[in-house]
Amino acid sequence: MIILGLSGALNHDASAALLIDGEIVAAAEEERFIREKHAKNRMPLNAARFCLAFAGIDARDIDIVAYPYAPIGLGSPARWHYAKRHWYAPDRALDALLNGNRRYRRNRGRVLVMGTALGIDWSTTRFVPVEHHLAHASSSYHLSGFTERTAILGVDGKGEYATTFFGYGEGGRIHKIKELYDPDSISGVYGAMTEYLGFEMLDGEYKVMGMAPYGDAARHDLSRLFRPVRGEVEVDTRYVNTVGLRRYREDGVGYYFSRKLVDWLGPRRTDESLDEPFVHYAASLQKLFEDTCLHLVDTHLGAILAETGKLAFAGGGALNVKLNQRLIARADVKELFVQPAAGDSGTALGAATYVAAGCGENLSRMQHVYLGPVFSTDECQRALRAIAAPLESVRLEDVPRETARLLAEGNPVAWFQGRMEFGPRALGARSILGCPSVAGIADRINAQIKFRERWRPFCPSVLDRVAPQVIQSHHPAPFMTITFDVAESWKRRIPEVVHRDGTARVQVVEQATNPRYYALLEQMEALTGDAVVLNTSLNRQGEPIVCTPADALAMFVGSDLEYLVLEDLLVTKRR
Ligand SMILES: [Fe+2]
Repeated sequence: MIILGLSGALNHDASAALLIDGEIVAAAEEERFIREKHAKNRMPLNAARFCLAFAGIDARDIDIVAYPYAPIGLGSPARWHYAKRHWYAPDRALDALLNGNRRYRRNRGRVLVMGTALGIDWSTTRFVPVEHHLAHASSSYHLSGFTERTAILGVDGKGEYATTFFGYGEGGRIHKIKELYDPDSISGVYGAMTEYLGFEMLDGEYKVMGMAPYGDAARHDLSRLFRPVRGEVEVDTRYVNTVGLRRYREDGVGYYFSRKLVDWLGPRRTDESLDEPFVHYAASLQKLFEDTCLHLVDTHLGAILAETGKLAFAGGGALNVKLNQRLIARADVKELFVQPAAGDSGTALGAATYVAAGCGENLSRMQHVYLGPVFSTDECQRALRAIAAPLESVRLEDVPRETARLLAEGNPVAWFQGRMEFGPRALGARSILGCPSVAGIADRINAQIKFRERWRPFCPSVLDRVAPQVIQSHHPAPFMTITFDVAESWKRRIPEVVHRDGTARVQVVEQATNPRYYALLEQMEALTGDAVVLNTSLNRQGEPIVCTPADALAMFVGSDLEYLVLEDLLVTKRR
């Protein structure tokens, strides 16, 4: 059966994923093709075209289009909860009751139009909507490879109405235990506070998390923002997750927090500094988020975890790597699987897998994220010839060995290899690499291309046989979705990839899923003694990760980077 999953229902992170007989053949985010981060208000037409072309199939061959947004009946508590809690904005409250599936109908219409543009024949291809949180749940549970009863956690801003999901998977089926509904969204509060702390929602959450270790959570009590009560959470919408007239506005921009929050905490942060009181707010928010999630997991998933210890997690909140570290530290969690595309782009995969599982197809553990476009060295050469820039290139005899030499000499190297990653993390296909024992390499990468706040951590990729020594754990970590405490001896060896709190968000690299990256790490070990590289995404600030050789070359020319390894080619700038 051929199933095309699409995302973008919440007007960001449009993506496409193609499943053929239960196998993920291709998946990609629209932002990479249109070169606009998060592809806001876009449908995933280019991503879907790529998936079909990669698989060599025609749009008319698609059996089902699965979409992670479904109608919610008036019998569901979701719409009533929304209406009751938005009493202060009666137009919204009434709309939820009288016309609560308007957004679904609009979404469906957009998918039908896009499908027609793609060449789908809707008389033979079925459109199947999947509830947003069931899609997130499926993207983690059905791709976890867990065969026992598995606790499922979903934390994100908001789907149709649900914001937080607790359930379990058993025998390939997903069962709901409990949902929280808008405006009671802990992830939404994190997003609103991200805005208050001077960052943009969808990207800034990582920055708040990176800022938190610089502050003292005990300095400010933010618990009035929301409180967990007997397995429920009630957000105080007088401060955050506000809509309508309660929203704080500044220079014509509306925020998801209120004037009352500003009166309480002071003016929002507007500069790049790492100052008080904002670092303490970040620390306090992070702690409140973690504590609340853990409390809710206790309440709703504790019994299942006590039984099997297996936990699957998705939704934007699952990208909170510090929370994930605390989840795996729980005595009742034996293994945590986090969907690497935990944000909304992963719901394309989730909707497709949900439908596939319902049709009885076998799904197996997601081993890697290399699901995007791939380019041959010849195609790279053609892209190089097409660009009018003073560049030189040589074909490398041994790509891992010669790249390792450049890295060990203290150079940042742009690394473009194989199929592009699906999900927000660069995992050794579209990366900028550095040697983490070279003092100042992080600063050098920042100076040459990244220009990001120096206090934000860079992350390591580690060879699998060395990883347990570095992170003091045997827990799987292929996707940079969990932080670990770095062993004391390794903190001194690879200081450039250890965060202020002594943790690192590692990627453990296995030979089977990325042999060339693995070989590079082996060469690093031979040259430096440490089978570790600093790995950050291949993009300029504010741009999506590069997709094509042309994107990589344009980025390279527009930066101060000196070395680009483009498949088998080493590209340098003519002096
Ligand atoms: Fe979502």
